[in-house]
Amino acid sequence: MLRDRDRCDAMIATHDGVYYDYSRQRVTAETMDLLFDLAERQMLTDRIRGMFGGDRINFTEDRAVLHTALRAGREGIGTVFVDDGVDAIREVHDVLDRVRRFTDAFRSGEITGYTGKRMRNVVSVGIGGSYLGPEFLHEVLKTEAVGISTSLGYDLRFLANVDPVDVERTCADLDPEETLIIVVSKTFTTAETMLNARTMRQWLWDFMGDDADVVRRHVVACSSVSATERVRAFGIDTDEGMFRFWDWVGGRYSVCGAAGAVPISLMYGYDLFEKFLEGARSMDQHFLNAPPRKNIPIIMGLLGCWNSSFMGYSSRALIPYAQALLRLPAHIQQLDMESNGKRINRHGVEIDYPVGEVDFGEPGTNSQHSFFQMIHQGQTVPVDFLGFVRSQHDLLMDNEKLSSHDELMANFFAQPDALANGKTADEVRAEGCPEELVLHKVFDGNRPSSSLLFPELSAYVTGQILSLYEHRTAVQGFIWDLNSFDQWGVELGKKLALDVKEHLMEARNSEVGDHEIIADNPATSRIMNYYI
Ligand code: F6P
Repeated sequence: MLRDRDRCDAMIATHDGVYYDYSRQRVTAETMDLLFDLAERQMLTDRIRGMFGGDRINFTEDRAVLHTALRAGREGIGTVFVDDGVDAIREVHDVLDRVRRFTDAFRSGEITGYTGKRMRNVVSVGIGGSYLGPEFLHEVLKTEAVGISTSLGYDLRFLANVDPVDVERTCADLDPEETLIIVVSKTFTTAETMLNARTMRQWLWDFMGDDADVVRRHVVACSSVSATERVRAFGIDTDEGMFRFWDWVGGRYSVCGAAGAVPISLMYGYDLFEKFLEGARSMDQHFLNAPPRKNIPIIMGLLGCWNSSFMGYSSRALIPYAQALLRLPAHIQQLDMESNGKRINRHGVEIDYPVGEVDFGEPGTNSQHSFFQMIHQGQTVPVDFLGFVRSQHDLLMDNEKLSSHDELMANFFAQPDALANGKTADEVRAEGCPEELVLHKVFDGNRPSSSLLFPELSAYVTGQILSLYEHRTAVQGFIWDLNSFDQWGVELGKKLALDVKEHLMEARNSEVGDHEIIADNPATSRIMNYYI
């Protein structure tokens, strides 16, 4: 099929510099027709319009889903209303304007720390959606041309895990007098984030004294309006140092809002963050307006449904041929698995076919030397390959004909064909392979992948990539008729951790050795008593 030129031509879609080739997926023209029919039956385009327009599509929480408003241009003000008359895009721009003013003042030295020193370090405390998106963007901008020049002299770190070792690794070499802490938490209740926030506040107090002004000058928050009292109680100045989230943006969809805007603009300046928003906006417009057969996120979503529900492939890999995208797979993993890891549909009925994939990935070529063995000869794992025409930093050694980026990209081009074409027993024999090894060296081929080629890994293109994957997830949720915007599944673990903490507290409060923990079941009791 790969040699069929018409088929290849038909299975390419482009938008604003993005080139998407899905000719190596296990679909025929008829399969695609049927998938587009399915999209029509599920009223996909109406539902996409509903999402952009503020319909309450998060039906288990009765909320609108408006992460696209976070990157809408000012011309959108007055077009999307939520909660009986709130102008969503105006609210977004009010917050972004405040972020710009605050981060400019920080970077110019107008805002100083408690002891009058200029602040240069930023620690962003948050977990899950309040961490993974901003971190993936930071990793891209670290080596991006504008990012390099605008971040000179600044340092941005993320503190997510409640493991005390993460605190140590994050701030052992930081000067508290020169450090601003951002507490990013939509709810301002997440146990890990709140403990880390208290730890960082204590770290500041230990150094500069237990004064309320230390917190007012060194700690800001990105949080939802409903958490304002909790933010104030923590000691943060809610007028100057609090940047809003809204209920209509889920944590894992929040990187374009204050959660990403504050840390990234402190580190790189607001203008570069704005380029990221512009890239996301370009892809949003494509998703909203392009016909389904030319619409990249729609096609990617339909193929996701095809591969998991029809072909039965339960995992998929995301392989960026760009080291700066090393944290993209982790972000997309949360985005997609927290969104579509569900089993009850919109009508309250249990879905009796496979939905939702295990998403994983690592940059190429590193991943080729770790888990690609399985992708070539073990289970079938559909792959997205991401490549770039130009490198952020190319290298050409004196005696080399091809640059290092060409070397990297040679792998980007070769891997999809290796997966698709495979290698027959006859081809293996023709290479002189001993008969007893022939079967070990056969590649069955016909393994699906898509290739996405972008011009260069800039802030703008990163915005396009983000939007592309956010919308792929939404498409799959719409087709499967489930709610991609709630996350009840993480609640049970949180609740049980609270019960466990009570048992630990009781044990710690009693004399060593005289307290036996009786937990919910013998296995938990036994292992906890071993721990104590
Ligand atoms: O545990 C999952 C989760 O609820 C995510 O959805 C969210 O991004 C993360 O926790 C952090 O929540 P918050 O921003 O409220 O601290």
